[in-house]
Amino acid sequence: MNRKFETNSKGHLVLGGVDAVELAKEYGTPLYVMEENTILSAMREYKASVDRFYNGNGLICFASKAFSCKEIYRIAMREGLGTDVVSGGELYTALSVGFPAEKICFHGNNKSDKELEYAVTSGVGRIVVDNAEELERLSKIAKKLGKTAPVMIRVKPGVDAHTHNFIMTGQIDSKFGFALETGEAMDIVKKTLDTPDVRLVGIHCHIGSQIHEMLPFTETAKIMMKFIADVKKETGAELDELNLGGGFGIIYTDEDKRIEYLSYMEAVSKVIHECADSMKLKLPFILMEPGRSIVGEAGTTLYTVGAVKTIPKIRTYVSVDGGMFDNPRYILYGAKYDFLLANKADKPADRKVTVAGKCCESGDLLGENVELGNAESGDICAVFSTGAYNYSMSSNYNRNVIPPVVFVKDGKSRVVVKPQTYEDLVRNDI
Ligand SMILES: Cc1ncc(COP(=O)(O)O)c(C=O)c1O
Repeated sequence: MNRKFETNSKGHLVLGGVDAVELAKEYGTPLYVMEENTILSAMREYKASVDRFYNGNGLICFASKAFSCKEIYRIAMREGLGTDVVSGGELYTALSVGFPAEKICFHGNNKSDKELEYAVTSGVGRIVVDNAEELERLSKIAKKLGKTAPVMIRVKPGVDAHTHNFIMTGQIDSKFGFALETGEAMDIVKKTLDTPDVRLVGIHCHIGSQIHEMLPFTETAKIMMKFIADVKKETGAELDELNLGGGFGIIYTDEDKRIEYLSYMEAVSKVIHECADSMKLKLPFILMEPGRSIVGEAGTTLYTVGAVKTIPKIRTYVSVDGGMFDNPRYILYGAKYDFLLANKADKPADRKVTVAGKCCESGDLLGENVELGNAESGDICAVFSTGAYNYSMSSNYNRNVIPPVVFVKDGKSRVVVKPQTYEDLVRNDI
């Protein structure tokens, strides 16, 4: 593993200036640890890129499906970001800390009436319409509430972003949005312009996730600008806003490389300027929705090693006290991670093992054939880059409790999500 990490004189892994072994002692394991400075610098880098390359004419909306809790909305709010929510629950959490509703984009391919009502009543800035039925329902709801709902249309630009099928959302065969090539995107735009009690502010797309190349993004920007031009030609309406979604890749293992966020905005801004010039369009207000790339690399999960089982000539299983209930990404996608024994961080990772979770599911693994040092019961096993789609995808499978989230910064730690308790587990049981 080529990953750089910090160690102290005890040979322990250090996260945000704090000894990871001490964190495990203080808060128990499994434990989600998030380095706050990594989150802040990603947010600032994205924001600065819009200021520098697009004259500040845009809004970075943190895609909170990657990691949703009160504190992350507070931080995003302080940093001047917007947020993308995808359920009534995420919306509630954001609003509960006073997140400005006008800076919220509300997504989802099957929003309920209740969720739409909640979004309209709260004054959400953009409701991203995903299907024709939703548009009709939204119009009725807005009328009933005496409001006009601001709408973006989710478009499938048809770009192949070379990523994992399960997280591919830009192609025609996707449950999200309206396809360009079939004409349904144009049809829904026309329909929206004719629908009462909604106001079309722009179009949205999201081409996939964990993307490491620039080309899919710049191609998408071109396609979307061309669509804005087509809409103008066919309807006379010039759309104000273009939301280019998220999807920027992060480093999980040595196989990954990361696009610099500044260079992303530089390249996309160039394309948008060129298109606006040649197509005689005004420059749209740009929205972007990075999720994984803001919180992913900030997170490390700490586990305690329990059983170590060697099956001769086959493999060694190193079992830890977490698993698919705190990180379902391996069982969902075969996701890869870097592992390290936090209490032996200065020792060589000289064997290949399978790290197994504790759930009653053979597929409950965190990694197969991964490099690790000599793991023994009681060691602290760290898994890197777990800040996105881990805590937010956690469950109570096998009635395991969801671990707490601790933020670390400048040598200090603080709890931002308390550990669940057994009482929490039975709270709603009758
Ligand atoms: C509409 C939309 N925006 C933003 C994101 C965030 O993507 P990522 O976390 O890869 O940046 C997603 C992820 O699925 C999405 O569906």
